[in-house]
Amino acid sequence: MTNSPAGMGSSTPVNVSKLGYVGFETPDVDRMVDYYTKILDFKLVERSETQAFLTTNFDHHSIVIEKGDVNPRSFVGYEIWEDISDAQRRLKEAGYDVERRTDIAPSTPDVLIVEEPSTGIPLHLYDAQSGSGIDGYTPIRPTKLGHVAAFVPDLKPLQDFYQGLLGFKWADTIGDFFVFLRCNSDHHAANFMASKVKRSLHHIAYEMRDVNHLQTMIDHLAKNGYQLDWGPGRHGPGHNLFTYHKDPDGNNIELFTQLDVIHDESKGYWEPRPWHNDFPQYPKTWEVDVMTINSWGPINPALMEH
Ligand SMILES: [Fe+2]
Repeated sequence: MTNSPAGMGSSTPVNVSKLGYVGFETPDVDRMVDYYTKILDFKLVERSETQAFLTTNFDHHSIVIEKGDVNPRSFVGYEIWEDISDAQRRLKEAGYDVERRTDIAPSTPDVLIVEEPSTGIPLHLYDAQSGSGIDGYTPIRPTKLGHVAAFVPDLKPLQDFYQGLLGFKWADTIGDFFVFLRCNSDHHAANFMASKVKRSLHHIAYEMRDVNHLQTMIDHLAKNGYQLDWGPGRHGPGHNLFTYHKDPDGNNIELFTQLDVIHDESKGYWEPRPWHNDFPQYPKTWEVDVMTINSWGPINPALMEH
């Protein structure tokens, strides 16, 4: 790709443009593929001996399922909007070990791999995926992978890395333990919850088109024996209308709609969704209270443990 933003200097962060995919391991690949195809209506694009590639949209994959222990968020892929070699050079100049591979996935022949600080999980940076061959949307299928939330020992190294090296912007923080970061107009693509004991995934979130789409999916979940364990409700940061349920491995899956978008990038303020107190709304640190966690009322303590 040659369409790099103008003015890139040697100290400019890599220009991540979207969350592309998340990888995770499961002891029972068939069961998880069944869940993703029959319950969440993802399309299975390709399957090898060891991996299954599934998608919701025109990208070849938005999740990759591999056989192993229960290990959600074993790697995360981000699309970048610039020349791969240039990004590689700048990451190396910043002191990071960067691997460049051609064999990561059939759809991404040129991928940079850099370790996420604190967690050590591989982050994949690539400029585009080949197509999935998907033929439009169905009544149930989510529109996209929205964000991935993970437990980390400390927020600062993650914020320094994502904001300083990968060009993410701070969106919001709850108290001193939960930060929301964005890489495009969506309020967040990556969130991190500080925990002294917990590691790995907090939740994976998929976007639904609107409230009716979400309701249709919840009815479909119920028909297939998947009950919600939180929601519907509305979060403060991002103002997304949310529901949470568990996949067959017990991972938290959020289905959401109405996430805030950045209305004017030059001013950096949000377009808040119906329940909000500030307009225009800028990034801020939120109090830990019910209006922040779920303005509609109930709080699921299990999802706030850290
Ligand atoms: Fe979320």
